[in-house]
Amino acid sequence: MSTKILVFAGSVRNGAFSQHMADAATHELEKQGAQVTQISLRDYPLPIMDEDLQSEHGIPEPAMQLARIIANHDGLMICSPEYNASIPPLLKNTLDWVSRISKDGDAPLRPYAGLTTALCSTSNGAFAGMRGLYHLRAVLMAVGAQVVTEQCSVSGAANAFDADNALKDERSQRALTNACRILIENCSLRPRT
Ligand SMILES: Cc1cc2nc3c(=O)[nH]c(=O)nc-3n(C[C@H](O)[C@H](O)[C@H](O)COP(=O)(O)O)c2cc1C
Repeated sequence: MSTKILVFAGSVRNGAFSQHMADAATHELEKQGAQVTQISLRDYPLPIMDEDLQSEHGIPEPAMQLARIIANHDGLMICSPEYNASIPPLLKNTLDWVSRISKDGDAPLRPYAGLTTALCSTSNGAFAGMRGLYHLRAVLMAVGAQVVTEQCSVSGAANAFDADNALKDERSQRALTNACRILIENCSLRPRT
């Protein structure tokens, strides 16, 4: 059975570079035999994390839906921009809400536990969004994910993708190929159940 990987971007901006990256990653993962589900965080709108909100109303349904989807996959690929050298608030807020979930009704649900994860970043600037990935990596480790070392960070993102959202630069494509390969391999090494 092929490895099931969930892919999403850390931005929902129209024409987002990170969405181009998510498309490139999806293509590469499928080429390597994975069964990929790509989602957009636009479909999982969440209020800003507020513990009073959680106490009064519980976990919002979009966070529950996302947690179930994550739990139903072997691995995760997040493609994100950086905001002020860190994690974009949309992505951090989403990760935080999902981190509050431990049950689905009476059944245990721990979507991040042992979740093999790979990261990619994009930026039109020179740092390629790489600084944000250090923070993203730390947050994912804190919630129990297994984040692989290999990653792909693409600078000059406005000109980095062709019309099919494939990476034009060979070195970037090699980094993406490698990150996808290690992600799939690590999913098999660490089955979730
Ligand atoms: C609040 C804010 C902070 C930003 N900080 C950075 C930054 O630290 N480094 C960077 O390369 N780009 C930064 N940018 C520019 C984003 O990389 C750019 O808007 C990018 O297109 C967003 O990613 P997306 O194309 O995936 O939506 C920032 C943008 C915003 C709105």
